[in-house]
Amino acid sequence: MEHYTMNLTLKVWRQKNSNDKGRFETYQVSDISSEMSFLEMFDVLNERLIKEGKDPIAFDHDCREGICGMCSMYINGRPHGPWHANTTCQLHMRAYKDGDTIVVEPWRANSFPVLKDLVVDRAAFDRIIQAGGYISANTGNAVDANAMPVEKEKADAAFAAAACIGCGACVAACKNSSAMLFLSAKVSHLALLPQGEPERKTRVLNMVQQMDKEGFGSCTFTEACEAVCPKEISVTNISRLNKEYLAAGLSVDK
Ligand code: SF4
Ligand code: FES
Repeated sequence: MEHYTMNLTLKVWRQKNSNDKGRFETYQVSDISSEMSFLEMFDVLNERLIKEGKDPIAFDHDCREGICGMCSMYINGRPHGPWHANTTCQLHMRAYKDGDTIVVEPWRANSFPVLKDLVVDRAAFDRIIQAGGYISANTGNAVDANAMPVEKEKADAAFAAAACIGCGACVAACKNSSAMLFLSAKVSHLALLPQGEPERKTRVLNMVQQMDKEGFGSCTFTEACEAVCPKEISVTNISRLNKEYLAAGLSVDK
């Protein structure tokens, strides 16, 4: 596709801190290249704001290559913008045309409070992981790679679930702010592997308990989460999570 430049109107959510009410501010940006990434377009705007002595727009990013899950933004009503299976940092300005208006907001969920502008606090996810998203392994020599065979089908399903980057788009897209797709990915990837077996039952019970404590809503199976997930985590993981939870609840000593 031919390279082109464009002038755009940005309506960006500005909020000083979690107590501030927040509001949209409108910015005109010009000569934006279709080759730029969405975050580079924000960099250009922020450099201008700094030069003008204004507060730059706070947004999260780290890897800028779809790995870290930091770049949480609602773009024109969709988490991570218009492209399927894509993070905000991998969105390019060729998705837009000259004269477009782009509305950018932070994730909206009570469990992800806004810290500043587009930055939200996703520590609730970290606490869910701390509650059980790990395995115990004996120290000493590394086990021979072939000593623990894993069926191909299970290995593939575990790998697909492990692709979750913890971005929170599933929560942001859900009308109930449910974290079930995230949790189901984390529980599935360990429940499918022999290494996850020792803590299999306590893991799912503890992680679900922590998820409820963090105030995420219940899953009513709208599948809005799967539609926006940048890593195409499947809702079939939610069915697996429900099965794991039921089986663990029936068999663990209370
Ligand atoms: S399941 Fe998908 S949308 Fe949800 S946190 Fe993981 S990668 Fe992000
Ligand atoms: S900045 Fe790391 S996934 Fe977007």
